[in-house]
Amino acid sequence: MHISALTVVALLQASLVCASAFNADVLLPRNENRSRNRSCTVKSNGNGEDDSRFVLSAINECNNGGHVIFEKGQKYIIGTALDLTFLKSIDLDIQGTIQFTNDTDYWQANAFNQTFQNATTFFQLGGSDVNVYGGGTLDGNGQVWYDLYAKDIYILRPILFGTIGLRGGRIEDLNLRYSPQWYNLVANSSDVVFSNINIAGGSSSKNPAKNTDGWDTYRSSDIVIQNSHIDNGDDCVSFKPNSTNIVVQNLICNGSHGISVGSLGQYVGEVDIVKNIYVHNVTLSNATSGARIKVWPGISSALSGDLQGGGGSGAVSNVTYDGITISNVDYAIEITQCYGQKNLTLCQEYPSNLTISDITLRNFSGITSAKHDPLIGTMVCSSPSVCGNITVSDVTVKSPSGTTLYECGNIEGLKGMVECV
Ligand SMILES: *[C@@H]1O[C@H](CO)[C@@H](O)[C@H](O)[C@H]1NC(C)=O
Ligand SMILES: *[C@@H]1O[C@H](CO)[C@@H](O)[C@H](O)[C@H]1NC(C)=O
Ligand SMILES: *[C@@H]1O[C@H](CO)[C@@H](O)[C@H](O)[C@H]1NC(C)=O
Ligand SMILES: *[C@@H]1O[C@H](CO)[C@@H](O)[C@H](O)[C@H]1NC(C)=O
Ligand SMILES: *[C@@H]1O[C@H](CO)[C@@H](O)[C@H](O)[C@H]1NC(C)=O
Ligand SMILES: *[C@@H]1O[C@H](CO)[C@@H](O)[C@H](O)[C@H]1NC(C)=O
Ligand SMILES: *[C@@H]1O[C@H](CO)[C@@H](O)[C@H](O)[C@H]1NC(C)=O
Ligand SMILES: *[C@@H]1O[C@H](CO)[C@@H](O)[C@H](O)[C@H]1NC(C)=O
Ligand SMILES: *[C@@H]1O[C@H](CO)[C@@H](O)[C@H](O)[C@H]1NC(C)=O
Ligand SMILES: *[C@@H]1O[C@H](CO)[C@@H](O)[C@H](O)[C@H]1NC(C)=O
Ligand SMILES: *[C@@H]1O[C@H](CO)[C@@H](O)[C@H](O)[C@H]1NC(C)=O
Ligand SMILES: *[C@@H]1O[C@H](CO)[C@@H](O)[C@H](O)[C@H]1NC(C)=O
Repeated sequence: MHISALTVVALLQASLVCASAFNADVLLPRNENRSRNRSCTVKSNGNGEDDSRFVLSAINECNNGGHVIFEKGQKYIIGTALDLTFLKSIDLDIQGTIQFTNDTDYWQANAFNQTFQNATTFFQLGGSDVNVYGGGTLDGNGQVWYDLYAKDIYILRPILFGTIGLRGGRIEDLNLRYSPQWYNLVANSSDVVFSNINIAGGSSSKNPAKNTDGWDTYRSSDIVIQNSHIDNGDDCVSFKPNSTNIVVQNLICNGSHGISVGSLGQYVGEVDIVKNIYVHNVTLSNATSGARIKVWPGISSALSGDLQGGGGSGAVSNVTYDGITISNVDYAIEITQCYGQKNLTLCQEYPSNLTISDITLRNFSGITSAKHDPLIGTMVCSSPSVCGNITVSDVTVKSPSGTTLYECGNIEGLKGMVECV
């Protein structure tokens, strides 16, 4: 089963033309084991010891046309970083629970370095024609990481699910719990559908579970993220540098920082492109933002010790948010081109090297939180010469006091019914 990128783009276009739900089943039908006619069941020690070697041997045995089963009711402990980038025509049927060990020293030394923002992953799953499903759970054992991060922000917290270099695949019907940081990183991948993923898990101590993004896409194209429920404390979905042709639809996000483009332009000398993004039918509650675009200005600034930058170049273009329902969300729309720089004068002195253009925001409804009342949104760029053609339509969002105001600035060609203060 190989579906070419061209097919995906054609389908994305068809979906946008009729502005309706995009049918990912047409894009990548699930193989199940119709042609996976070998079956390998993963053994487990059953006593809390590392089961990684059983996982590897089952996968090696069933690669190229087989079906690997993690049995229902079984708990598999993973204490070894697994490089699974060699997968080819295989189904991973995860019915049981996979839990990663709490050995923070081991994982900091051995988790896979993905270079971008010092990200690391417990495992890396890549190759081609891979289906992962089964209704089971991946548990990142995050508590120990949340507590350690409170003591040292420079620790390397692994990402729970690393989709790295996957060409053609479906990841669906899974529960993701207690990730040490982001739940999903999708890097160097194309033609991948994520569907029916349930994300949840917070801290049980006074130390919050920080940076628990639902998905981050990076250097990837033709990705669909759909039909999922996310309960987290950072971006629900975030499009990082070089994310193109992406559909996000039918999500319910609670507690997040919104569906975000960026942050982009963080690194001097790098070119970040985010284009052809379609976000459709997303409900967000208890969040800081609904639709969000964050771009660093042309000058370096420090947001915090482990998050600083600015001065990079590139472009955000052709991004559509269509059908966003909010409740208790601080800003329905938040666009900044001065990310990380509180001094607006300084930001305007050094406009971003990363342009924002052709942004469509339509069919937004609901009520914001009282946090920024009377504002319901903010759209502040660094200069109209690098930011324009933003269209807002059919936004019925109100603040708790009934206002519909935005903070706006430095945008060329802001179209639609936008009442700026
Ligand atoms: C398994 O499936 C492959 C591809 O569909 C086919 O060529 C092969 O004959 C099958 N083998 C068995 C034992 O059914
Ligand atoms: C197909 O998968 C089902 C369970 O998902 C399993 O019982 C069956 O043995 C598999 N068949 C083959 C040929 O792998
Ligand atoms: C780590 O896990 C082991 C085995 O499950 C457990 O005995 C230990 O208490 C855990 N350590 C921490 C710091 O949570
Ligand atoms: C990843 O980078 C960290 C920090 O530089 C290092 O300690 C670790 O060993 C690296 N991991 C691998 C698998 O190379
Ligand atoms: C990556 O880690 C190094 C070493 O801890 C730190 O100096 C740097 O700021 C980090 N970079 C990012 C982008 O977080
Ligand atoms: C919108 O998304 C929700 C949540 O996933 C889903 O229940 C609903 O069917 C979707 N609506 C449409 C028109 O696709
Ligand atoms: C993004 O793509 C552009 C154009 O292909 C390329 O020049 C740039 O190096 C890429 N940036 C990253 C971060 O991969
Ligand atoms: C905008 O993006 C969509 C895919 O998301 C694509 O179909 C369309 O052609 C793009 N428009 C332009 C002008 O590139
Ligand atoms: C929003 O947060 C409140 C307070 O924590 C909670 O009761 C409510 O269930 C949340 N809303 C949703 C849709 O999860
Ligand atoms: C903000 O930047 C401007 C221009 O560089 C500078 O004159 C001003 O002092 C800065 N304001 C603050 C509060 O740092
Ligand atoms: C980035 O922008 C700054 C200020 O606008 C400018 O001085 C610098 O040359 C730009 N850098 C690049 C790589 O474009
Ligand atoms: C806005 O669109 C017009 C017409 O396509 C174009 O000439 C202009 O450069 C665009 N402005 C920005 C800032 O992208």
